[in-house]
Amino acid sequence: AHFARNAGPLSGRSIVITSGPTHEPIDPVRYIANRSSGKQGHAIAEAAAKAGADVTLVCGPVTIPEPGGVKVVRVETAREMLDAVKAALPADVAIMAAAVADWRAEGTFGQKIKKDGSGKPPALKLTENPDILATVGNSDAGRPKLVIGFAAETQNLIENARSKLARKGADMIVANDVSPETGVMGGDANTVRLVTKDGVEDWPTLSKQEVAERLVAVIAKSLKEA
Ligand code: CTP
Ligand code: CA
Repeated sequence: AHFARNAGPLSGRSIVITSGPTHEPIDPVRYIANRSSGKQGHAIAEAAAKAGADVTLVCGPVTIPEPGGVKVVRVETAREMLDAVKAALPADVAIMAAAVADWRAEGTFGQKIKKDGSGKPPALKLTENPDILATVGNSDAGRPKLVIGFAAETQNLIENARSKLARKGADMIVANDVSPETGVMGGDANTVRLVTKDGVEDWPTLSKQEVAERLVAVIAKSLKEA
C-alpha cells in the first residue's frame, strides 16, 4: 500500500538512531559485548519512519528483523558505530539507544588465543571506546537540534541520568531501570522516566513500541516549539 510519508508530524526531519549492542573482538572467535536485543531502538526507528521522518538506523549485531522504511547501516564495533553516525550527519535529531561496549581489547589477536596449560588466564588489557552520544551532544558545528540518550541503570537512576545529560551534552535522557527482576532486558515492556534539564517525567509501563511512539510525539512537539 502507498504510504503517505510526508503527511506525518516528522515529515521533512532527518533522524539518526543507534540500536543494539556493539561487539568488540578479542581474537577471531571471541568478543566483548553488552546485553541488548535492539528492540527499543528499532521500535523508535520504526515509529519515527511512520511519523514521516527520514531515518538512518545504525545498528549493531542484533537478531531481530530490520524495521521497514528506514535506511539501515549495520556495524560491529563502537568505532564503526561512531563512523556510521558521523556519516549520517547532519540530522535534525540524534537518538542513541545502542548499548555500546565501554571497553575494547587493546590490540586484538590475529589468531585464536590458546590455553597454555598453566591454568592461568591470559591478561586482557582493555581500552575505552569513544562515547558516541557525548561526541554528538558536545559537538559545536552541525550539532543536531535534539540529542537524546538512554541511561540503563540498576541503581541511582535519576542521579545517573542527570549526570549523563550534563556530561554528554544531551537534551533528553530516557532513563530506565534494567535490574534483572524488571524483565526490561530482552523483554517487550519498558518503564521509563524522561529526564531533561527542566525535570523528570514518569511514564507508565508501556510496550517498547508505545514508548517509541510517545518519544516520537515528544520529539515532534519539541522541534515544533524550537
Ligand atoms: N553511549 C554512547 N557511546 C558509548 C557509551 C554510551 O553513545 N561509548 C550512549 C548510549 O547509547 C546511551 C548513553 O550513552 O544513550 C548512556 O549509556 P551508558 O552506558 O548508560 O553510559 P556510560 O557513559 O557508558 O556510563 P556507564 O558507566 O553507566 O556505562
Ligand atoms: Ca556504558
